Amino acid sequence: MEPLEHRVAAHYTTQDLLARIDEALKKQGVETATVDDLKPVDEFHTGGLEATDALLSQLQISAGTRILDIGCGLGGTARHIVHRYGAHVTGIDLTPVFVEIGQTLNARVYLDKAIALEVASAVDLPMGEGSFDLVTMFHVGMNIADKERLFAEVGRVLRSGGQFALFDVMRDDSANPLVFPLPWSDVSENSHVEPAATYVDAAAAAGLSLNAQRYRRDFTLSFFANAFAAMERSGGPPPLGIHLLMGDTAGEKLKNYVANVEEHRVAPVEMIFDKVA
Ligand SMILES: C[S@@+](CC[C@H](N)C(=O)[O-])C[C@H]1O[C@@H](n2cnc3c(N)ncnc32)[C@H](O)[C@@H]1O
Repeated sequence: MEPLEHRVAAHYTTQDLLARIDEALKKQGVETATVDDLKPVDEFHTGGLEATDALLSQLQISAGTRILDIGCGLGGTARHIVHRYGAHVTGIDLTPVFVEIGQTLNARVYLDKAIALEVASAVDLPMGEGSFDLVTMFHVGMNIADKERLFAEVGRVLRSGGQFALFDVMRDDSANPLVFPLPWSDVSENSHVEPAATYVDAAAAAGLSLNAQRYRRDFTLSFFANAFAAMERSGGPPPLGIHLLMGDTAGEKLKNYVANVEEHRVAPVEMIFDKVA
C-alpha cells in the first residue's frame, strides 16, 4: 500500500464498530437484521439508499451482470444490489475492518455466497482484464489522488461495452479551500476532490466515454435539511446511522460538508461511462 492509502484506511478505522452497530440495532428493536434494516449505516454516502437507487435505476442490471463495487465500505451497496437484482457482486475496499464487518453482515443475511469482499486498492485491482460488466463506485474518488490510474484500472477490468457508474463529491465552481474535517478526511492532505472535467479526461485516456452526468447539489441540500430537521425534533441522530462510522466529530464533519456544498466548493455528481468497444 502507498502512504496515502495507509492514511485513508486509518481515517476510516473506528473502534468496536460491529458491537456499536449491534447495540444500535438492538436499541431500534431489531434482533435479526435484514438487508433493509442495515441501510441507515451501510450506505455511507450522500443520500444513502435513495442515492444508490437513483444511480442504479439508470443502469441495466440483471441476475447475470458481473459487478465490481470499488470502495465497498461495509458492503451495503453490494448487499442491496444482490437483494434487489440477484446479481453477483465483488467488492474491494482499502479499510480491513470495513471488509471484515461487511463479510460478517453478508453471512448474517445469507448473502455470503453471492458477494465476495476483499481488501484491495482501486488503483491496483487484483482482477483480470474484462472480468466485469459493470463497475460501481460511491463516494470513493475523494480519497484517490491518481484519477488516471483509477480509470485505467477500471477500464482494464471492464469488458468492452461495459459501464462504470459513480457518485462522487467533486469540485464545484468555487476555488476556495474546503473546510475540514469532512466525512472522507480530517485534513486536506488526504482529500483529492477534483472537478468533473478531471474525471472525464481521465476516463477518456482509459477508453471510457461519458454517457450521462447529473449534478446532485439540490438533492444533497434538501436531503440534509430534512435529516438535520429530523435530528432537531428528536434531540439527536437515531441510534443506527452513518455517524457510527465517523467518530466523535461526526456532527462537525456533516455540517462542514453541507457548508462546503452551500458555498459551491463541492457538489456530489453522478457519472456513467461506457467502455468503448
Ligand atoms: C465514504 S466511504 C464509502 C463506502 C461505500 N462506497 C458506501 O457508499 O457505503 C469511502 C470508502 O472508500 C474506501 N477507499 C478510499 N480510497 C480507496 C482506494 N484507493 N481503494 C479502495 N477503497 C478506497 C474507504 O476505505 C471507504 O470505505
